[in-house]
Formats: sequence, C-alpha cells, structure tokens
Amino acid sequence: MPKVNITIDGQPVQAEAGSTILDAATAAGISIPTLCHHPALKPVGNCRMCLVEIERQRTLQAACVFPVSEGLVIHTNSPKVIEARRFVLELILSDHAFFCMYCEMSGDCELQSLAYKYGIDRVPYPYNYPWEPVDASRDYFIFDSKRCILCRRCVRACDELVANHTLGIAGRGFASKVIADLDVPFGQSSCISCGTCLQVCPTGALTDRRSAYMGRSAEVDRTKTTCLACSIGCAAEVVSRTGNILRVEGDWQGEVNQGLLCILGRFEQLEPPGERYLTPVVRRDGRLQATTWEDALDLAAKKINATPAAKIVGVAAPTLTNETLARFRDVLTKVDSQKIGTFYGTFPTPPTGASEGSLADIAESDLIVITGVDLTKTHQVAGAFVRRALGMGARLVIIGDDNGMADYAYETVKPAEAAKAVELASRSEKPVVIYGPDAAAMTMQALAPLADKARFIKLLPGSNTAGAYKLGFGDVTGTRAEVALVWAGDHHGEIPEALWQTLKDVDFVILQAAYQTPLSEIADVILPATIWPEKEGSTTNTEGRTLQVHRVLQTCEGIIPDETVLQMLADKVVARS
Ligand code: FES
Repeated sequence: MPKVNITIDGQPVQAEAGSTILDAATAAGISIPTLCHHPALKPVGNCRMCLVEIERQRTLQAACVFPVSEGLVIHTNSPKVIEARRFVLELILSDHAFFCMYCEMSGDCELQSLAYKYGIDRVPYPYNYPWEPVDASRDYFIFDSKRCILCRRCVRACDELVANHTLGIAGRGFASKVIADLDVPFGQSSCISCGTCLQVCPTGALTDRRSAYMGRSAEVDRTKTTCLACSIGCAAEVVSRTGNILRVEGDWQGEVNQGLLCILGRFEQLEPPGERYLTPVVRRDGRLQATTWEDALDLAAKKINATPAAKIVGVAAPTLTNETLARFRDVLTKVDSQKIGTFYGTFPTPPTGASEGSLADIAESDLIVITGVDLTKTHQVAGAFVRRALGMGARLVIIGDDNGMADYAYETVKPAEAAKAVELASRSEKPVVIYGPDAAAMTMQALAPLADKARFIKLLPGSNTAGAYKLGFGDVTGTRAEVALVWAGDHHGEIPEALWQTLKDVDFVILQAAYQTPLSEIADVILPATIWPEKEGSTTNTEGRTLQVHRVLQTCEGIIPDETVLQMLADKVVARS
C-alpha cells in the first residue's frame, strides 16, 4: 500500500494512502476521541466527536471519515477543536438522561469519560428528549432510549455484522430513537438476541441483565477462550469476577467469527441446565447413592476388569477437549476395546472429489445452497455470514422444508428436486454448499455434479466432533456391550436416538456427567464432570482448525479435572495383553 506524508500535532507521520486521519493518528499513538466510531464497523462520521483542524480546510473535519492525502497538516487538540468537542458533548448531553449514578455503565461509559475529560459540569440547553419507557421485553438485555446517544453503532452492527436488519432509527431531532422493525417491542421483533448491539453500545442504553451492576471493567477479569457451544468455535472473551461469570463477549480479533456470537454462546450457555453433580454416585439396590471418588472408581474399574474387551464400549460427548478425548481413548485402548465412538458417529459425506470449503468462502460466494441444517437454530454465526453474502448479491437456495432461513431464499426446493439447486449453482461463478447433520444421502448424491465447482462446507454437530473424528472416534450405535463408559461432560442436550437405543441395553453404564441427563437413568456409576469454563486444552472446529480453550474459573470444589479422573481410572484398570 503506498504511503503519504502528513503531520499530526507537529509530528511527521507516514500513513497508508486511503486510510483515515483517525487510522493514521491511532497508528502513530495519537489519541483522538470518538463516539460513533467502532473498529468493527464502517465509519460514518455522525457524532462529530472526532473533529480535528486541518490546515487549508474551511471547517473542522471528522477524523474518522476524512481520508489522508500528501501534505495534510492536522491539529487534534487546538483551542478551536476543544471548543467544538465541548459543544458537541453539550448537545449530546442535552438529548440524554445522564443520571449517571443510576446507570450500570457509570465508570465504563464512553460519553461519561469524555464529559469528564472535557470538563462538562453542566449543560446550557434545556433537556428536550421525550421520556420513553425502558424496553425490557427481551430476555437477556434491556434498552433505555433515554441513555441512547444515537451513535447508530447498534443499528450498524445489526446491519453490517449480523445482517439481521432489525434495528433502525425513527423520528427527527429530539424525537429520534432506535427502533426494532416498525417500532415494536424488541422482544416481539425480528431480533435474534445475538447481543452484538449490546457489545458495541458506548453508553448504558443497552444493558445486559445478568452482569448489570456486577462490576466495572477495572474490577473484572477477562479471559480469551473458544466458545464450546457449537462447532464453529467462536473466539470469545469471558468476563468474570470473584469466581463468577458475568458475561461472554465476542473477540473482535477472532479469525473465525470476527467478533460475532450467537444467543447460545453469549447468553444461553450461562444458564445452568439443572443441578450439578458434585460428588460421585453409584447405584446400589436399584438406587443412586452418593459415594467417594475412590469407591466409584473402584467399582467402575472392577466391572471393566471383569468384562471381555469385546464387550466394552466407550462413547465421548462432542464437547470434550482434544486432550480429554485422547486420554479417554487411552483408557479404552488399555483394555483393548475396539469400540470407541462419539455422540454423532456418522455425518453425511460430500460427493466424491468435492473440494472442502471453509466459513470464509461464504463471503466470496454468489450462490449458497443449504441442506440439512437450519442456521437460525444452530451455527447462527454462519447464518450471519450467509445473510451478509446475500446482502452483497449472493442468492440462497435451500434444499428441504421448514428452514428458518427460508424467508431469505431465492428458491426452496424439496430434496427430490435437488437437481434444480444444481442447475442454479452450475450457472453461478462461486457456489458453496453448506450441509449439516440432517442432509439426506440422496441429496448429497444429487449434488455430485457440483463436486468440481462448488466448495462444500460441513457444519458438524457438537463443538468438538471434528476433534473426535480426528482421534479415530467412530460410530458405536448398534453395538451389543456389557459395559459402557460414557463421557458426557457438560453435554446436557438430547442424546441421538440411535445412541440412546444402544446404551439403554448395556448392562453396566459408567457415566461421567456434569448435569443430570437422560443417561443418568441408566447409569450405574456417575462421576462428576467439569463444565466449559473450567476446561483447559484445545478443540477442533468444523473447519479443522485447532483452537485453544482456556480455563475461566477454578474447578468447582469436589470436582476432579476430566483428564485426572481418566488417569485415576486408567491406573485401576488392568491392561489386556
Ligand atoms: Fe467520528 Fe463520531 S467518531 S464522527
């Protein structure tokens, strides 16, 4: 990229041609205050907080949108600039309920910080904003229009990043306000509660219910990790304080998700699904009774040691880390069991010779075929990528019925009509096929003519099914076993029917689980498991990338880390020759 020479506050700076004054100043370590600007969003220049003085320019200019050019001389802190910024702040504050002592964002609010910085201790204008009620109709966050400064970050995030287009602005002047759809309560709107708007809001207009008033940024810990809610493996930052998780935020540096999260990753996974097992449990006289780790592991090992290898099966949940899966496999290998499976042991296969694609291919495509997965229910971040591509002119073809993305589709066809999708894709330049666990074998076969042309992007169920496949975990459904080791971890969702049918006929089930699951009903030994914030290790996402998982919380008292439990069990089982 060619460079241009400019001067900022007397300092010579080389900046990339095409970049803005704000970019150039930031790169040179010179701070310019902003409000509507957010690095993940396109600059719009509507708040005027970043005004700077440029020599030979008639008026002050917004640094966030003004492009650099050779020879520019810029002053970011001249008396004229300071006066203009104070004026901007006074105007914003006159249209804003700044009763900071009651606001959750007090201490973290970007507007409040600027008001302090520029010494705004009063507003010389009457407060004219209408008194709007707080909208608390959404489950996870609330909206207080009186605290909104109309920076439009939320509207732009909903449009540019999530491409859900729920938010907009209605009214003029003091009556301007952020609305959802045609001004319906947020909870009744098309909002998908991904929380991206919440994360970009600079004031307390959008407030997270769970973490409100629980700690300012200086009082909390932030841990970068990988979300384990689905196989996309979004980069996330978990905010915690004194051993409690306050909230989860998307990591803007995340290569896979670029800051996005879905309702599941940001909110739902913070709700405990039930009571947690904190002590081992064994079934005696038909009843489950609490016991010690030693007793439970002894009983499990005794049963394994007394059972022929051919009659022992191991099944691991797709939420375990690669390291736990490897240790689990070691135990099964020690007793010579050949039956090591994962919850989703099978997955539709793409046509022979099809080239595998990654999530990044969605942005480049001009025609997207989706089959066997509803991106409004699972893998919602991939759903945002698809909507973004549609906004850039791509067309969507859905094969199958009842898909939440159907409203966006150019064409929805039945599986028997997959040839129609093939025909449309053949006429496009860069088609992609996104397929999920429910894709019919017949449909995948019908897509064979696209093997050379389209990129096939698989969306595996479970967060680490790819890791399990890589470690050789397969399909054990239909196996007739006497002893089953089932490492469910914190998986508490449904158990695939075929697996359930297989396990319910097993004589002795050793279950490792964090919460009660349907499997608890048939378990003879239950060993407590760690939950996602207590895990340390790695996971493999649906694209095959290895991603790091970092511990956010200390392991709960009474729980032993998964790999240590597996080692303790391995020490007690007898190796088969
Ligand atoms: Fe530049 Fe708002 S930050 S105009």
